[in-house]
Formats: sequence, C-alpha cells, structure tokens
Amino acid sequence: MANYSGKKYYIKTFGCQMNVYDSGRMASLLEAMGLAKASEPAAADVIIFNTCHIREKAAEKVFSDLGRAYLIKQERAEKGKDTIIGVTGCVVQAEDEEILKRAPYVDFALGPLRYFRLREVVQEIFDKREAKLLDTDFSAESKFDRLPENKAEGGCSYLAIQEGCNNFCTYCVVPYTRGIEMSRPVEDVLKEARRLAETGSVELNLLGQNVNSYHGEDASGRERNLAYLLNKVAEIDGIKRIRYTTSYPADVDDELIRCHKELDKLMPYLHLPIQSGSDAVLKKMNRRHTRDDYLRIVEKLKEANPDIGMSSDFIVGFPGETDDDFQQTIDVVNRVKYIQAFSFKYSRRPGTPAAVMDGQIEEKVKKERLQVLQDLLFSYQTQFNKNSIGKTMQVLFEGRGRHRGQLAGRTPYMQNLHAKADISLLNKIVDVRITDASTNSLSGEVV
Ligand code: SAH
Ligand code: SF4
Ligand code: F3S
Repeated sequence: MANYSGKKYYIKTFGCQMNVYDSGRMASLLEAMGLAKASEPAAADVIIFNTCHIREKAAEKVFSDLGRAYLIKQERAEKGKDTIIGVTGCVVQAEDEEILKRAPYVDFALGPLRYFRLREVVQEIFDKREAKLLDTDFSAESKFDRLPENKAEGGCSYLAIQEGCNNFCTYCVVPYTRGIEMSRPVEDVLKEARRLAETGSVELNLLGQNVNSYHGEDASGRERNLAYLLNKVAEIDGIKRIRYTTSYPADVDDELIRCHKELDKLMPYLHLPIQSGSDAVLKKMNRRHTRDDYLRIVEKLKEANPDIGMSSDFIVGFPGETDDDFQQTIDVVNRVKYIQAFSFKYSRRPGTPAAVMDGQIEEKVKKERLQVLQDLLFSYQTQFNKNSIGKTMQVLFEGRGRHRGQLAGRTPYMQNLHAKADISLLNKIVDVRITDASTNSLSGEVV
C-alpha cells in the first residue's frame, strides 16, 4: 500500500458522543495510512465533516462549513495541492444522493455504518481511480469488526457498545440514520476496554443511542445485559471510573439500578432523558414511559445511591404541547432537581411522524418556553455547583486549562473544573478542593 506520510487530515465533529467516538476511529484509520493530524483545515489534504442530523440547525450548518472547505480546496489547488473533502455521519445517511447534488465538490460521503471503508476510499481518490464515492449501505455487517484496534487518546475514553435505535420516538431521526439496534458481543467490548486501559485510559464511557437496552452475546452465545457488562468492565484493574450514556427510561431494570449501589467505579451521575413531563406529550412522542414511571426510576436510583446526580434532555414546543403540558415539565424539573441538562426547541425533521402532526407550535412560544425552562435548569445547576465549594472531589485531568499552568478536568458529576496543576497530573485522578463555582465550571486547588 502506498504511504501517505507528509499528508495531513482534519476532522470536524458535530453531534453526539457516538460521533466523537466515530471520529476517533476515523483518525486512527487515517493515521495507519501515514497521515498526520492538521491543526487547521487549510493545512489538510483530507478534510472530513462528521455530521449530525438531529435538529435542522445542526444539519444546515454543515453546508456552510462545506462551502468554506470548498474555498480552501480552490486556494490549495492554485498552489498545486490536492484536497479531498469527505462527509460522514448522520446527514449523509439522511440526505443520501442529495448531498452530492447540494455540494458537488464533495469527493466522498460515507454513512455512519460505513466509515470502516475510509482507508480504501481515500486511497482510491488520491490515486484518482475513483472520482466520487457515496456509500449509505445499511447492511447488517458490523463496522466494529472491520476497524483496527482502538487505543486511548487520553485518560478518558468513549467505547461504543451498542448502536442504532428501535424506539422510533416520533420526533427523532436516529432510527433512520443509525439503523436498527445492534449490540457488540461482550468479549469484543471487554477486549477494547482492556486495550484502552493498557494504553492509558482510567475512565470509560460506554456509549449507545439506547445503551441500557444492550443485549450483546457472551462467549457461550448467551445474551447479556448492561448490568452484566458493567460488572465485567469494573473487573479491569486500570479502569477506575465507568459511565454509560444514553439511557432510555423504560429500559432501566432493577439489575442496572443495583449497579449504582454496588459498583464503586460507576460514577454517581446519570443522563436519563425524559423529554417532557406531560403524559399526553410523552404519548404523542411514542415514549414507552410515563412521567410517574420516570419519577419512580429516579427515586429507586436515589435509594441505590443517595449521592447520584441526574441529568436529562428536554424538548419544548412539541406539536400540541399546551401551557399545562409545559408546566408538567417544569414540575418534573422541580422534583428531580437536575444537576445538568440539555434542552431544545422542537425541530421538525422531514420523514418523522411528528413533522406532519397537527398543532405545530409557533417559534415565539417555543422560544419563551425554552427560556423559562433553561432559567430553571441553570438555577439548579448553579446551586449544585455552588454547593460543591469547600468539598474535595476526585478530578480526572483531561487537558490543559484556559491559563498557563492550569489543567482542566471533570469531577465524578461531569462538572468542568480548572485548577493550577503540574502537567504530570494530566490523565490522572487527583483530589481537588473546590474553591469557586459558576453555572458551567468549578475552580479548585489540588490537595
Ligand atoms: N438516544 C438518546 C439521544 C437522542 S438525540 C435518547 O433517546 O435520549 C439527543 C437529544 O436530542 C434527544 O434526547 C432529544 O432531546 C433531542 N432531539 C431529538 N430529536 C429532536 C428534534 N426533532 N427536535 C428537538 N430536539 C430533538
Ligand atoms: Fe431518538 Fe428516541 Fe431512539 Fe433516543 S430513544 S435515539 S430520542 S428514537
Ligand atoms: Fe446527531 Fe446522529 Fe448523534 S443525528 S445526535 S450524530 S446519532
């Protein structure tokens, strides 16, 4: 195979943690070919946008970024340099051929289940054997079997254990962009987990679009659940902290709840999206849980671990949402007192059932509701962060801080933290006393 050393790549990632994981795997595919990471798109021979289709804004932003990449491609061409522009991820799956029509200068487009072909595709285009390439195959073969071994980039790594979703919430594109649910076999996950530990990770975040419906086969062919897998991952010596995301409320079982009581390595923080606090809206969303189901799960989790902090996603302005429905969401927030949350205005996605439902809410109302909800969410988040002042927390330093001599890291509760710390503490878990707090970050002193 040709060696491409001297050539560089640049990957821009949009969307969820699954995309961050996929971008990491793409980077290692390119590095195996000899390419090095570029610090900016203009310095790259291969520019890739790993895209997200979840809301209109995210999807549209890609096209303006692509336009800028095309300018770079033209400028580089004037200097006699070739540039390959690629698009991967959920926008590719959703737009299919449209993407090459809307951005004809794109050299290749690979769906989220097809990027294992990256090496061969880039090679063919460099060698001018192939001019344009589009692959959005949805076949059952697992991409994970066709990727080189993963290795740690730092102290904290993502590990995809499950992909796709069968829930078909009526607003959501994920079942169409990532396909049906697929769980990786237990042994494959453990092998990757051990390798990440050996190459320097102390924290693993097990990923899936619906991670707690995990049902991978063990070596004997028996289906195992997420609780089983968490116990197995916890047995790996080098792994000190474990998280999993994102969970679907109806698939939280008692065994999983017990993990929060029994597994010390499992962090006391859970992202468990409710979306809405109104049963009427949840029903129209096709969520398989009610507001009470959800509150009961949170109660059980708090019984299992009284220190657990909850996080959620919310959608405001779903078709037909009344003021009273919205108040029910506010009420859930006041009960659960989330320590962190993500909230969005409902975005109409072509092809999803909710896009054609009656009772679409006007933008002005969505905006007002989002503001009210976010003010409340931020007040709980700020309160939680302020209550951290004076406490000592175990922080995993993941990178350099804003200022010289500082490192940035995360507490067990996923709070961002900055502290003066020696570079030797990078990728280590260190006791830090919290000295100050705002809505989005903490500062502290290494103890
Ligand atoms: N699988 C995860 C996350 C899916 S996408 C889950 O089920 O929770 C992340 C978040 O984006 C969702 O939780 C939801 O709050 C939001 N989202 C999805 N589709 C949306 C849409 N059409 N408009 C606004 N927000 C949306
Ligand atoms: Fe989308 Fe619902 Fe599946 Fe989450 S559970 S990915 S919101 S369809
Ligand atoms: Fe976006 Fe696809 Fe993730 S649509 S949120 S990148 S699964």
